[in-house]
Amino acid sequence: MCGIVGAVDRRDVTSLLTEGLRRLEYRGYDSCGIAVLQQGALRRVRSVARVANLAAEVAAANLSGMIGIAHTRWATHGAPVAKNAHPIFSSGEIAIVHNGIIENHESLREELQAHGYVFESDTDTEVVAHLIHRMWTEQAAQGAKDLLCAVRHALERLHGAYAIAVFARNDPGRVIGARAGSPLVVGLGEQGNYLASDVMALAGAVENFIYLEEGDIAELTLDGVRLVDRSGHAVQRDIKVHRASTHSVELGPYRHYMHKEIFEQPNVIADAIERVDTISADLFGQGARHAFREIDSVLIVACGTSYYAGMTAKYWLESLAKVATQVEVASEYRYRSSVANPNTLVVVVSQSGETADTLAALKHAQTQGHRHTLTVCNVASSTMMRQAEFQHLTSAGPEIGVASTKAFTTQLVALFLLALTLSKQRGRLPAAQEATFLDQLHRLPGKLNSVLALEAQIIAWAETFARTDHALFLGRGLHYPIALEGALKLKEISYVHAEAYPAGELKHGPLALVTSQMPVVAVAPNDALLDKLKSNLQEVRARSGQLYVFADADSRIASGDGLHVIRMPEHYGSLSPILHVVPLQLLAYHTACARGTDVDKPRNLAKSVTVE
Ligand code: G6P
Repeated sequence: MCGIVGAVDRRDVTSLLTEGLRRLEYRGYDSCGIAVLQQGALRRVRSVARVANLAAEVAAANLSGMIGIAHTRWATHGAPVAKNAHPIFSSGEIAIVHNGIIENHESLREELQAHGYVFESDTDTEVVAHLIHRMWTEQAAQGAKDLLCAVRHALERLHGAYAIAVFARNDPGRVIGARAGSPLVVGLGEQGNYLASDVMALAGAVENFIYLEEGDIAELTLDGVRLVDRSGHAVQRDIKVHRASTHSVELGPYRHYMHKEIFEQPNVIADAIERVDTISADLFGQGARHAFREIDSVLIVACGTSYYAGMTAKYWLESLAKVATQVEVASEYRYRSSVANPNTLVVVVSQSGETADTLAALKHAQTQGHRHTLTVCNVASSTMMRQAEFQHLTSAGPEIGVASTKAFTTQLVALFLLALTLSKQRGRLPAAQEATFLDQLHRLPGKLNSVLALEAQIIAWAETFARTDHALFLGRGLHYPIALEGALKLKEISYVHAEAYPAGELKHGPLALVTSQMPVVAVAPNDALLDKLKSNLQEVRARSGQLYVFADADSRIASGDGLHVIRMPEHYGSLSPILHVVPLQLLAYHTACARGTDVDKPRNLAKSVTVE
């Protein structure tokens, strides 16, 4: 989603800004732009093409300056056209970039128009630019110019979420940043000071960071950084060292990050469980041992792929730990009137830790009276990790492809560990069973490698899927969420319409869609529901549907007329979903490649959705 970079430097900042935008590209965007202060004037270049084109245009326009701001935009208010791309200017005096949504922009727009401001874009951001300009000129009239103060007073008028970076033509040594609801970090360097919506943007440029807290406003100059809270009182924040590994964001021999990340799964899962030699609540942070004993139920809240990880975990938590579990989409939960049980453990699951709906759901749960909260997340420094009582880092490493893969399987590992922990605390995990589960976890990377070895067969299937417009995915029980995730992967990157159903529901509707033109993917582990699933597959065959079945080696399903089978390793018990999702990731990936889509940056989607 939208990305911000800002800089005050002793050198020209344009290459640092464009490199920062390049590093933020993975978040998804539809336009981009950069503005600098050059020879006493605001100058900008904006583009609806890729950052690489923007960099070329910046060079062609001879843009250069010692202070500047830059942005990748994922359109919310206003179409993705050049006039709506950021930076947005006010009166040739104020330049701003903004992530988030200003909810009261319509009333502010009317007010500002009444004061003579002419709007050039359809964005909500432009009201912020004009508001700051208004405060700035009012101050100037009183002979007291303080950009930070003007920004702070403008922000007081806003409802909604924002992270912003601002500079003024008349104040050449200063960039102001502020956050409320959207992340923003300050990078401290020897040659200058910087702002970014994500530390990744400044990887390699600086190692010392300040993570701004809600309501913080930062003033960056060459001499240092001044921080105030929303009332204008000086605040101190810790400096954290973050040495970004540039290696992990390089593509290496792969064509796409998604492909690389699918193949990283054995290694990242091995890393995640390397030090797990016993099941203990300590895996979830200090104090979890005591708090987890108090809880009598679990509520998992998440979005997208992370939500499907939560759905899978429900089966584990209820079957292994016998703890009643609910799973809810964050955007629904946060606005629903629910009954809080102080003994419920609220678990938010998120790759980024910044998804606006999930973060708001976490805060909502806390204000509703839920005492115990846990974040399962892939970004140690994220807002969700700081907001929850307990934390578990999934350690998948940076995930760049918009479609989540390795973050999902590491979330599943984390949630399986949670189920085992609650089970052990409740006396339901005998030592021998614990040892068996740990052994299975440690052998999981090897099993994943044997699934990845099926890639050539999956590529052959992808040729067929690339020619279809619709596909149906079936699964049962623990593998129903895996079918959902397979359908989500296919639609998000290949744009093939795909739906997933619990196989037993087929006869209640989707069977009407089945013809010889409809590929039906079935996830067929050799578990207790296999015979039921086989009956469901017969229902498809009887209507001439084409079946594509991922069957465990021991599930006795053989290829035949209209029945295509890829043989998986032998059934892997409770951990089977982690194996079964991998061929579905590969099927989506190769279908997308065959259709020639932008696999890592699918249209209209963003990696980290930091607005509602
Ligand atoms: C976006 C991404 C998905 C992701 C979802 C939740 O929609 O494109 O891949 O699953 O957000 O993100 P989170 O970071 O909270 O897991």
